[in-house]
Amino acid sequence: MNRDIKRIGILTSGGDCAGLNAVIRAVVHRAILGYGWQVFGIHEGTRGFMERPVGCEELHLGQFTGNLLRLGGTILGTTNEGDPFDLLMPDGTRRDRSDEIIEGYHELALDALIGVGGDGSLAILRRLAEKGGINLVGIPKTIDNDVAVTENAIGYLTAVDVATEALDRLQPTAASHSRVMVLEVMGRDAGHIALSAGIAGGADVILIPEIPYSMHHVQSKIEGLRHEQNRNFALVVAAEGVVTENGEPVIVTDADGKKRFGGIGHYLGRRITEETGAQVRVTVLGHTQRGGTPGPRDRFFASAFGVHAVDLIAAGKFDRMVAWSNRDCIDVPLSEVVNHPHPVDPNGPIVRTARGLGICLGD
Ligand code: F6P
Repeated sequence: MNRDIKRIGILTSGGDCAGLNAVIRAVVHRAILGYGWQVFGIHEGTRGFMERPVGCEELHLGQFTGNLLRLGGTILGTTNEGDPFDLLMPDGTRRDRSDEIIEGYHELALDALIGVGGDGSLAILRRLAEKGGINLVGIPKTIDNDVAVTENAIGYLTAVDVATEALDRLQPTAASHSRVMVLEVMGRDAGHIALSAGIAGGADVILIPEIPYSMHHVQSKIEGLRHEQNRNFALVVAAEGVVTENGEPVIVTDADGKKRFGGIGHYLGRRITEETGAQVRVTVLGHTQRGGTPGPRDRFFASAFGVHAVDLIAAGKFDRMVAWSNRDCIDVPLSEVVNHPHPVDPNGPIVRTARGLGICLGD
């Protein structure tokens, strides 16, 4: 055991997801009960480190006696806006604020930091750690599940549950009205949610960014259901990162000028009506996939990851990420993870399952 460790920090970074509070709880339990350390929760990702005094709170076991294990979101707050090495300031200028974050870490006299984030956040945290001598351990979270090595990032399984439940609710109303239902789910660059929920929820068509589609194949599938299987409805799932037939991403611009994915469901709905004449309704699930009560499996992985991350610190092992692989909680160098996104393998077992079920993937 590393006897020099006395104070550790934890922050959540990037888009929130279900299961983050369960990670924080696990870290606090293991660090305090197992090692007698102090644990500081940093507010709003790395932003807390930029504030003076540092935006943080000491975390105590007493905070976790209630329902935090079951609560969505993150009690520490988070942000998915900007890179602190090149941060957009309110006056429109850009500034490198990495030194402030590093100073904040040292000002708190932390011996190590647990960063809970997706691929992008972990890459930034690693850069900060290398620059500023931060003893970093990463925990993967993202509903998109596109972090390398780990089979599950926290939040993904709950998002799949939400999307599957949406299909369960859409199917009876689709059948009652003889409609095609299009469900747009999250997944900027990866179609993991669409694929898993589509299989679990009985989708007829699943479109993901990793597999280019042709509307002709979508049309044939939907018409085939009607003519060959006497089916009066169809369920279509599309990941938000799917592009139009011309290869254009479908982007919405928020009031503050920020661009994000959204709208491919409505595009596909229009095109399906044009091509098949079917009555189509579109549901965009959006952030319902991120909030709400974490499912039991996300709580389980969050707990396993939190305990393992603290044990890594105790063993003096840094610059690593915890991961779930082959029925085990393991850890790997962060260098094997950051900038190595993990999209759906178009020739992998899950795509094979979908094809085996006769699901149209658009190709
Ligand atoms: O990365 C997670 C994610 O939920 C993506 O699936 C989605 O495109 C994005 O975050 C949405 O981010 P925001 O909360 O900024 O709208």
